[in-house]
Amino acid sequence: MTVDEALNLLPEILKRNLERNLCVCNEVPKINVIKAITEGADTLEKVRAKTYASDGNGCCRRQIEDLLECLVPEHDS
Ligand code: FES
Repeated sequence: MTVDEALNLLPEILKRNLERNLCVCNEVPKINVIKAITEGADTLEKVRAKTYASDGNGCCRRQIEDLLECLVPEHDS
């Protein structure tokens, strides 16, 4: 999946502020998380390993789960 295809799958609310840090602890912009998912990171753990997002106090975990739910059909959380 390309990043553009991924963006097409997301509801408007998840498409906002793509350049803003989704994970502020580690300064990971939302677009980087989306990119990691398109490159095969299909679980929270894989997204974390690839981008360091959610590796701080974990407060952005829910946001990553939301993206996974939209972009990975078989994702269950
Ligand atoms: S904002 Fe992502 S771990 Fe803190």
